[in-house]
Amino acid sequence: MSDDPRTAAWDHYWTVVEGRLGSAPSGFLRWCLPWFERAPAGAGLVELGCGGGQDLQYLLRQGYRVRGVDASPVAVALTENAIAELPPDAAARGSAIRADAAEFLEGLAPGSVAAVFGAVLYETLSDDELRRTFRAVRGALAAGGFHLWCVRETGHPLERTPDVLPPNTGDPRVPLVEHRFFTAAGCAELGADGFEPAALERREESHYLFVADRKRPDAR
Ligand SMILES: C[S@@+](CC[C@H](N)C(=O)[O-])C[C@H]1O[C@@H](n2cnc3c(N)ncnc32)[C@H](O)[C@@H]1O
Repeated sequence: MSDDPRTAAWDHYWTVVEGRLGSAPSGFLRWCLPWFERAPAGAGLVELGCGGGQDLQYLLRQGYRVRGVDASPVAVALTENAIAELPPDAAARGSAIRADAAEFLEGLAPGSVAAVFGAVLYETLSDDELRRTFRAVRGALAAGGFHLWCVRETGHPLERTPDVLPPNTGDPRVPLVEHRFFTAAGCAELGADGFEPAALERREESHYLFVADRKRPDAR
């Protein structure tokens, strides 16, 4: 069991949902595809919080080179299984690494990544962790590279039922993980340092915010 209670809760969550995962790519990933096409050529993608691995698997099938990172060893095992289902040439373009997102990015060669994307990853991070992670994303990206992220907005229906907001499953034996919710203005501010905004879209039906920020040529 992981030491960090948030990661332990994700371990539990992925253990519970295993076998019930679909293989279709997420709506957020579909939204990301045009941005990947505009990202600097030759540099790979990084998925933060690769979870069950279905988005990563989809991208490998499409010919992308993708490293997935997740703090949860259970999630990493699921992603490894998803990679192993692929033909060898596609599988060879992917990997799943157990690590904290910021630590992993800080270990990469600066400017070596075309795009970093993550779905519903930032809601359980503290202010300091968020700042560190965003700084690390900036450092890892090539100039003109994209930070693509998706968060739940304030007013999301699950804000009223935090006990079943993943990784919380309603199981009283697992300590509740707290979440933050985001506003569009908050996202614009959070992502601004070293980036120019490319898109910020409110998904009315799902109460998600989809954000695309492009690293400025002069940013480090
Ligand atoms: C909502 S899930 C992502 C779902 C995934 N994109 C999918 O489609 O299956 C969030 C994931 O982020 C991981 N995570 C949360 N905080 C993290 C961090 N600081 N570093 C690495 N992974 C983290 C969790 O373990 C969890 O698997």
